[in-house]
Amino acid sequence: MTTMAPSRPVMPPHDHAPRPYTGPSRQEVLAMRRQFCHPSTFLYYREPLMVVEGHMQYLYDETGRRYLDFFAGIVTVSCGHSHPRFVERLQAQLALIQHTTTIYLHPNFPLMARRLAGKMPPGLDVTYFVNSGSEANDLAVMMARLFTGNNDVIAVRNGYHGGSPGSMGLTSHATWKFPAQVNQGIHHALNPDPYRSPFRGTAEEIASRSAADIRDIVRFSTPGKVAAFIAEPIQGVGGTTLGAPNYLREAYAITREYGGLCIADEVQTGFGRTGDHFWGFEGSGVVPDIVTMAKGIGNGLPLAAVTTRREIAEALTQRIHFNTYGGNPISMAAGLAVLDIIEEDGLQENSRVVGGRLKAGLQELMSRHRLIGDVRGKGLMLGAELVRDRETKEPATQETLAVWEAAREMGLLIGKGGIDGNVLRIKPPMCITAADVDFALDVLDDALTRVER
Ligand SMILES: Cc1ncc(COP(=O)(O)O)c(C=O)c1O
Repeated sequence: MTTMAPSRPVMPPHDHAPRPYTGPSRQEVLAMRRQFCHPSTFLYYREPLMVVEGHMQYLYDETGRRYLDFFAGIVTVSCGHSHPRFVERLQAQLALIQHTTTIYLHPNFPLMARRLAGKMPPGLDVTYFVNSGSEANDLAVMMARLFTGNNDVIAVRNGYHGGSPGSMGLTSHATWKFPAQVNQGIHHALNPDPYRSPFRGTAEEIASRSAADIRDIVRFSTPGKVAAFIAEPIQGVGGTTLGAPNYLREAYAITREYGGLCIADEVQTGFGRTGDHFWGFEGSGVVPDIVTMAKGIGNGLPLAAVTTRREIAEALTQRIHFNTYGGNPISMAAGLAVLDIIEEDGLQENSRVVGGRLKAGLQELMSRHRLIGDVRGKGLMLGAELVRDRETKEPATQETLAVWEAAREMGLLIGKGGIDGNVLRIKPPMCITAADVDFALDVLDDALTRVER
């Protein structure tokens, strides 16, 4: 008698045919990476994956094998990999002119700035374009310091704001911080996420008590005035952690009492990903003074931005400030295409609908799999935290790794995060379908079953 191999989930069909790959072999690429690329660039997976083509929510390796991408190049591919209309728009721009700098007029730069102003609450209507989220946060903090005349900045524990020397100071994870920082005057306030809060009570009570920590920091650790408070509406790298909506409302009010500006880091949460809203901060009913953006704004092109009020922006005009690639015609064309495609393809609404299906599915998995301790997030910014014991909440780091590897074997790429590496981070391109969600849930069910055995 032969034993039947257990059937594995089957990926939904897709009609894109990847081109035959003719470049260097995976082994050669790996060897070059090891020899010539900086050793701090790390690779995912025990057997690193080589990706040579992408189409919408799918990626293809050098053999033509298809993967469902539920991590989107770290929450960056918003519209879809090589989305045909995105490609068309960029190719058209590339054929005309690829670089000028902002010292000359080009329509794309103000056109994109105007489109962003149209997406923001009234008053937030001037934008500075840069190339990365780290740069955007550095610039935001610089503007806040110059505008307020204060130096101290409060960020939130477990947050990630970048890896430049400045933004690394804002980041609150030992794993991402070098012992060589230049950003002075940064303080980290208690995290409002109820799952691991030291406080007990409802999520709203925990949010209030966490916000009160900001007042304590100002009173005990600063000259009684602050330049800014910066927070991600949903922490991404930290493992999809978030407080109740009153957290940002109270945190912003306290910050403003002490003269500070409020910065929303929308690098991961912006551009419709949370489903209900275009910006993450809208979920808390707050209006920031400065909004920083990157990742989804460019669908993978190096584009980032800082939008603020004119009077705050004026603070930066006291010296010459210049960014060679910021406002570049190609990145601006990318940004304009992203904004159009989000509207035309209904991607925010899709994030709400399929994200709701995915979250409900993850909660259902939690009811059957003891490893899942918490399911969090909104829209297509979701996380599942794995623990060895639901009482002690001991992080299931090794098990997370095993689930993540097993998912890849079955063709599903997801992220992982949290300071203990025990959160499955699920943030796909916003064009995924209900069939993709069902496949991903079957894969995770299968992977969890294998690991829990
Ligand atoms: C919330 C947040 N802010 C800022 C950054 C830094 O962006 P970049 O890597 O483009 O510098 C990241 C990157 O992951 C992020 O997740």
